Amino acid sequence: MKSDLKKHWDSAYENNNITELGWYEEDPIPSLQLIQKCGLSNDARILNVGVGTSTLIDELLNFGYQNIIASDISSTALKILQTRLGSKKNKVLWVVDDLTNPKLLSEIDPVDLWHDRAVLHFFTNEEEQNIYFSLLKKIIKPKGYVLISTFNSESATKCSGLNVQRYDKDMLIDKLGADFKLLEFFNYTYTMPSGDTRPYIYTLFKRV
Ligand SMILES: C[S@@+](CC[C@H](N)C(=O)[O-])C[C@H]1O[C@@H](n2cnc3c(N)ncnc32)[C@H](O)[C@@H]1O
Repeated sequence: MKSDLKKHWDSAYENNNITELGWYEEDPIPSLQLIQKCGLSNDARILNVGVGTSTLIDELLNFGYQNIIASDISSTALKILQTRLGSKKNKVLWVVDDLTNPKLLSEIDPVDLWHDRAVLHFFTNEEEQNIYFSLLKKIIKPKGYVLISTFNSESATKCSGLNVQRYDKDMLIDKLGADFKLLEFFNYTYTMPSGDTRPYIYTLFKRV
C-alpha cells in the first residue's frame, strides 16, 4: 500500500468536517437510481470501492441489502463510517486495501455489483488504471453490474488537491471491453458543500 497516498486520504478525513468534504453527498440519489435498475436481490454482494464515509452504505442497509463490502485505502474513513453506523456496522464487511495494489480485494468472493463514485479518476497513469480494471474483471460475477461515476470531460482537473483523469462514456467502454455492455449513462452536476459544481458522468454496465 502506498503510505503517502494513505496518509493523504487519512488526513483529509481527520482534518475536515465530513459534511464539508468536496465530495460529500447527503443523498446519493444518482447512485441509488442506477442501483435500483439492477434489480438485485437483498443477498446480492455489493462492493463499494473507495467508499470513504459515503451515505450510500447507510442507504443500502436501509433498503435491506445484507452483503455489503465497504473498502477504502483510508482506515480513518472506514472508522468514521463504522462509528456513524453504530451496531449496523456488523452487517458490513470492511476491507482496507489499495485499488492500485490490491491484496485483500483480490481474494474476496465474486460480487454482483461494483460501485465506484469519485475514485477511478484519481488513477492518472495507465498502469494504475490497468490494475484497477483487472481487479474489477476478476471479481465481477457473470451478469454482474458495474456502476462507475467519475469527473466527466468538462469537469475540474483536480480533486482533493490531486490530479484526475476525466472520462467520457467511450473511454469507460474501451476500458471495460466487449464483456461489458453499457446499460445507461448520464451526466450529473454535483454541487459541493462550498456551492461549487462538478460535472460527473454516471455509467452502469452489465457483464454479458
Ligand atoms: C473523492 S473520495 C470519494 C469517496 C466516496 N466514494 C464518496 O462518493 O463519498 C475518494 C475516495 O477514494 C479513496 N481512495 C483513493 N485512492 C484509493 C486507492 N488507491 N485505493 C482505495 N481507495 C482509494 C479515498 O480514500 C477516498 O475515500
